Amino acid sequence: MPLPKAELHLHIEGTLEPELAFELAARNGVTLPYGDTGELGKAYEFEDLQSFLNLYYELMAVLRTEQDFADLANAYLARAAAQGVRHAEIFFDPQAHTKRGVELGTVVEGLWRALGSSEANHGVSTRLIMCFLRDDSAESAMETLRAAEPYLARITGVGLDSAEVGHPPVKFREVYEAAAELGLRRVAHAGEEGPPAYIAEALDVLGVERVDHGLRCMEDPALVERLARERVPLTLCPLSNVRLRTVDTLADHPLPAMLDAGLMCTVNSDDPAYFGGYAGDNFDAVRETLALSEGRLRELARNSFLASFLEDDEELRAR
Ligand code: ADE
Ligand code: ZN
Repeated sequence: MPLPKAELHLHIEGTLEPELAFELAARNGVTLPYGDTGELGKAYEFEDLQSFLNLYYELMAVLRTEQDFADLANAYLARAAAQGVRHAEIFFDPQAHTKRGVELGTVVEGLWRALGSSEANHGVSTRLIMCFLRDDSAESAMETLRAAEPYLARITGVGLDSAEVGHPPVKFREVYEAAAELGLRRVAHAGEEGPPAYIAEALDVLGVERVDHGLRCMEDPALVERLARERVPLTLCPLSNVRLRTVDTLADHPLPAMLDAGLMCTVNSDDPAYFGGYAGDNFDAVRETLALSEGRLRELARNSFLASFLEDDEELRAR
């Protein structure tokens, strides 16, 4: 029986497996610049975040209809459930779809076809978090937030993702203020490739409740001390860090040192179809390679529920 856990850092577009990409391409008459899954598989060698993002955005071309988004999410939920995920807080990138002519309503309603029945079908409760692309303008993010207002019953929070360096959190101050006024929860990627200062800025300027990745906090002892004292959850993604070369090897991952420093760490999969593993695979990898004790693994699983946006009663049921 896999350890029950919540997944708090998961991009639904990053769950697009090569087989489903080709199936959707055929269904929608989209031609991919790869002959077959074997040829596509050779493109999964990444140098850094940007080299991954290039492929991630390219393959999104196959996602066109509500049913495509429903199929994508159902495939993820089935895999996650099999690996012990009881609750998933799922990111999506609206601008990556609207800029291709796919309407926001198509994305949200399509995802909802799967998420709305996920507890019954997969035993997984869900929340949806809408991410702004930080390498697009703040104006575009604000327009996206306004366009999402009819769908806010389905959206729990906002996040910030895509190319980090050169796009500090402060760029999105007004957008996050407006999101807070709408009652949305706030998270942001920070300290994946960007400097530790972006982590502090995400907390102080954007008012985030969790930091996605946060890995580079380890370069700033005063920041580590603050994050530990304030119990700020960090949604770490170990296999992602290896594949995007933010750590040299899994054995070099700072997770054990982060736990020893008292940080509230969680373990997640980020873009599992691209990085070689779903939530349970990430747990297995850190258990084996970093020799984490059973107590540490239980702590990580417990943190995932405590750091979730579930209400207290829902959280107890999910665990
Ligand atoms: N979008 C999808 N995955 C991402 C990641 N790991 N970092 C930033 N943006 C992303
Ligand atoms: Zn991410």
